[in-house]
Amino acid sequence: MQTNLRGRDLISLQEWTFEEVQTVLEVAAQLKRERALGIPHPLLRDRTLAMLFFFSSTRTRGSFESGMAQLGGHAEFIESRTTQIAHGDTPKEIGEILGRYNDGIAIRHVTWGEGNAYQRAVAAASRVPVLNMQCDLFHPHQILADLQTMQEKKGDLRGKTITVSWAYAASYQKPLSVPLDLTLATTRFGMNVRLVHPPEYRLPQEYVDQARENARLSGGSLELMDDFDAGFKGSDIIYAKSWGPLLVARDDEEGAAIGKRYTDWITDGRRMAMAAEDAIYMHPLPADRNVEVADEVIDGPHSVVYDEAENRLHAQKAVMALTMR
Ligand code: CP
Repeated sequence: MQTNLRGRDLISLQEWTFEEVQTVLEVAAQLKRERALGIPHPLLRDRTLAMLFFFSSTRTRGSFESGMAQLGGHAEFIESRTTQIAHGDTPKEIGEILGRYNDGIAIRHVTWGEGNAYQRAVAAASRVPVLNMQCDLFHPHQILADLQTMQEKKGDLRGKTITVSWAYAASYQKPLSVPLDLTLATTRFGMNVRLVHPPEYRLPQEYVDQARENARLSGGSLELMDDFDAGFKGSDIIYAKSWGPLLVARDDEEGAAIGKRYTDWITDGRRMAMAAEDAIYMHPLPADRNVEVADEVIDGPHSVVYDEAENRLHAQKAVMALTMR
């Protein structure tokens, strides 16, 4: 267990050691147990977290805000449109100023080519930790909740097969931060990772290379596939969600047109039946119901999506308690 996480940014999980990630998961399990037992844990009394959102959210906002309250502190919700950012506040000024008011700055900025760079610029100017609530490349707090959920349901993850797959959605061109970050993380846990997508939905090569290196070091594997059905066969964990063809499409319209070639990429009962008998179905939500995943799956016996969403709370409380004290 690592105890020297005070003051650390969490922008990418890959920048934290495996032991540090395990520490978060251990503390998250402890906080979850204490909450179930009604044991208060005001570890951040009088501390505050600024939550700066450039994009909408249900789970991330709710879980960070409730998490700070349960730790005895306060989270302030700041929607970028209501700030002076459009009138000139720079990332440096945001880091300097919000860092002087608060004990942590959490940011969601998912615009492709901008979000991660913005968070890094704020972090460079901030005296307090910057926590990534999702950027264009990474969604570390989602992935921590996913790892916690997988460990709860499957125990030791080494040797388990996870299918990280693209699925069709019509609502919007979703960021690729979840599949990218999930592939990076699960390959560190010795898992056999199937990354499944049509050719237009490839992930940035440098991160695929990093995931391959992670797998080599952990004793796991990474297999790239383009056959949706084949990806389900015998898999222990099905994590199928949509993302935009961001490396090839110039705009949303072009991205949506590419997606329409693959409308049959929906997780349905027939496909789940091809996975292991005790397979779990995961999705970070929101899902395009009956487009991306059939109701019979997301509401069915294999689905763990609500436990997964709950674990956002516990994993984030662990990160905040470890970094913001
Ligand atoms: N999974 C997730 O990040 O949900 P929100 O977009 O609702 O925060």
